[in-house]
Amino acid sequence: MNSQYNELRFGGSKHLDSGVVCTSCHDPHRGQAPSLRQQGNALCLQCHAGKLTGPQHGDEVLKAANCTSCHMQNGRHVFAMGGKT
Ligand code: HEC
Ligand code: HEC
Ligand code: HEC
Repeated sequence: MNSQYNELRFGGSKHLDSGVVCTSCHDPHRGQAPSLRQQGNALCLQCHAGKLTGPQHGDEVLKAANCTSCHMQNGRHVFAMGGKT
């Protein structure tokens, strides 16, 4: 079992329990690791568009910041909330 799986499973992320799997975000047939299905925030907005709440998700913030800079710190797959690391 790899560390990304452990993070999805035990890191408190709801992704795995909600049926989100590695290939929801990664396309193994696409070259160049990490071979994401979409670049930048578009990857996350496929599922989260129109549902985000709060000032941390305001248009201006999302123009300047990536989802991953807050939710995947150091590239980890925990999708941590807010101040949690
Ligand atoms: C919700 C979307 C999402 C899911 C689900 C997901 N990943 Fe990722 N993964 C990403 C993103 C985004 C990055 C790039 C992170 C960055 O740039 O900081 C990444 C990066 C990676 C990397 C390269 C980063 C590194 O450590 O060098 C690997 C390997 C990886 N993912 C494997 C997996 C595996 C295996 C699974 C399933 C257990 C998985 N991912 C599930 C979004 C996802
Ligand atoms: C394939 C659909 C899908 C993709 C792609 C996706 N998510 Fe999710 N995400 C979900 C679902 C479903 C949930 C759980 C139900 C909910 O809270 O809406 C969730 C929950 C979350 C949560 C709540 C906290 C938790 O416990 O997991 C965060 C934060 C999150 N996602 C961030 C991201 C980020 C950042 C990306 C892009 C790297 C991403 N998501 C990509 C479907 C997706
Ligand atoms: C500036 C940091 C920051 C950025 C950028 C950011 N988020 Fe968040 N996000 C947060 C914080 C903080 C929370 C926790 C809010 C709370 O606890 O009420 C959160 C909560 C969430 C949640 C839980 C439900 C909700 O709406 O509160 C989801 C899903 C989510 N973020 C997805 C995303 C996605 C997708 C992106 C990129 C389009 C993104 N976030 C960009 C900081 C950020």
